[in-house]
Amino acid sequence: MNWLKIIVLSLIWVEGYGDILQQELQQHWQRPLASQGQSPKTQTSLEPKNCATCHVTQFKDWSQSLHSRAMGAGIIGQLVDMPATATKQHQACIRCHAPLQEQAVSLVLSLQQQNSSTNLHEQGLICAACHMRESKMYGPPHRNKQPDVADMDKFPHDGWQSSTIFQDAQFCSACHQFKPGEYALNGKLLENTYEEWKASRYAKEGKTCQACHMPNRQHLWRGIHDPDMVKQGVEIKNLDFKQLYNNITAKLSIKNTGTGHYFPTYVTPRIIVEGYQADKDGKILLETKQQYTISRKVAMNLSKEIADTRLAPDEQVMFNYQAKRHPEALSFILNVQVEPNAFYTKFYQITLKNNSAKKGKELIQQALEQSQKSVFSIYFKQHSLR
Ligand code: HEC
Ligand code: HEC
Ligand code: HEC
Ligand code: HEC
Ligand code: HEC
Repeated sequence: MNWLKIIVLSLIWVEGYGDILQQELQQHWQRPLASQGQSPKTQTSLEPKNCATCHVTQFKDWSQSLHSRAMGAGIIGQLVDMPATATKQHQACIRCHAPLQEQAVSLVLSLQQQNSSTNLHEQGLICAACHMRESKMYGPPHRNKQPDVADMDKFPHDGWQSSTIFQDAQFCSACHQFKPGEYALNGKLLENTYEEWKASRYAKEGKTCQACHMPNRQHLWRGIHDPDMVKQGVEIKNLDFKQLYNNITAKLSIKNTGTGHYFPTYVTPRIIVEGYQADKDGKILLETKQQYTISRKVAMNLSKEIADTRLAPDEQVMFNYQAKRHPEALSFILNVQVEPNAFYTKFYQITLKNNSAKKGKELIQQALEQSQKSVFSIYFKQHSLR
């Protein structure tokens, strides 16, 4: 065989492989998802706590993750004010937050206030939503030696079908990337995480979403709500601090060094970079405060984009502080604050103020308190003033 033939054949192979992968992905994530069928084993085995008896680690990690809390007070508080039979309206939310057909059914029963043996919808993005189709288990290629297909029936749940889609970044696109033509503001899709990643060096290096968010196949999916994860994603340096006569100047550099997409990728979080002077009790002297916000700011009704100051992968921004020294100031402080749910905090406040939550009022109140509690600082530096 000559070289040209080999190259042409391998190109056809790569192309063909790509097609199969696309087909498998499309089939796996067609929405609404088909029911698991009437297999007698099915109804109980969809419960994550059933998987837990054997997959202890995955269950423990998943239980701490936001995927397991994807049907929290904030979303259920909105669903309870929708008509019980408006299944299309429900799908617009639960196709990402609780995508199984059996969860859609359990949601309708609970909205009709019928007693049901399951609360499957409340459990969020459960194991089976990613791993089970028509009562059959799917997973990534085995980390050691994949057992022979012939031996599969010796395993619990009749074995599993191994598939490379689980290791592909596109697996996550089903819910973390809008399709072309879906909702966009200022020419940019509202969710664009996969495309941001694809344009970054991480895609070229083969560093997938799973590599950062599921290292060693861990089921934690840590993100903007986790201080350590956020610190891994950015480098913050105090490059300069000067106190000359009565003038204070400082420079703080913030660089997206390890986030595989924009920092942050969504319109929900907000990062506030601030410098301020404090008095002898460490109390902030408000008139000395200067701020810079990193976020994609949109109108509350999502009608327009107001500003986009997010940092693309490897992008850097400099915060420059310059002010007169306050007569009572004894220290100067630089602080970087993360508000993971900034958009929703405001959304819940407005919903409560307008009285637009009826049955969901208490849940929205609860969601507001939770979202206010999620704030944390990833950088704090204090300079004493002479
Ligand atoms: C009675 C024990 C048992 C229960 C219950 C169970 N599994 Fe498994 N599962 C296994 C065993 C054993 C294997 C093979 C593991 C191995 O060889 O490493 C397996 C394999 C898998 C795999 C394939 C792993 C890979 O390497 O790709 C997935 C995915 C999986 N199970 C998901 C689930 C889910 C989801 C549930 C609940 C709906 C569940 N299992 C319930 C025992 C169980
Ligand atoms: C079926 C839809 C779906 C799929 C598939 C999915 N996610 Fe998610 N993911 C969600 C939803 C919904 C949330 C938000 C949960 C909440 O806070 O209510 C979320 C939250 C997250 C978060 C936490 C974000 C934060 O605010 O801290 C990370 C990280 C994440 N997903 C990564 C991934 C990765 C990586 C994959 C692919 C392996 C993936 N997800 C696949 C729906 C999905
Ligand atoms: C395309 C997938 C997708 C769809 C559709 C979707 N969401 Fe989400 N939702 C997410 C992701 C991803 C997050 C996490 C955002 C983050 O962490 O920055 C989220 C976060 C949230 C949150 C804040 C976190 C929490 O659980 O309190 C609420 C509330 C919410 N969504 C409600 C809804 C409602 C209501 C709908 C339907 C109108 C909906 N979502 C439709 C993917 C989706
Ligand atoms: C958001 C989708 C999603 C959810 C929810 C989810 N998984 Fe997974 N799971 C994955 C992906 C993706 C991989 C492969 C990761 C990789 O290859 O890096 C995986 C891998 C696995 C494996 C193989 C682990 C190994 O070490 O080889 C098992 C077993 C498994 N999952 C079980 C579970 C169980 C049990 C639950 C619920 C407690 C669960 N999964 C929830 C997406 C998910
Ligand atoms: C190089 C590592 C890396 C890769 C690759 C990566 N992420 Fe992230 N991701 C992070 C870090 C660090 C954070 C926390 C900082 C932040 O929120 O921007 C994060 C945050 C998130 C969040 C929280 C929401 C938000 O507004 O930031 C989601 C959702 C998410 N990633 C999904 C994904 C998906 C989906 C992919 C693949 C298309 C992916 N990530 C690829 C490192 C990575």
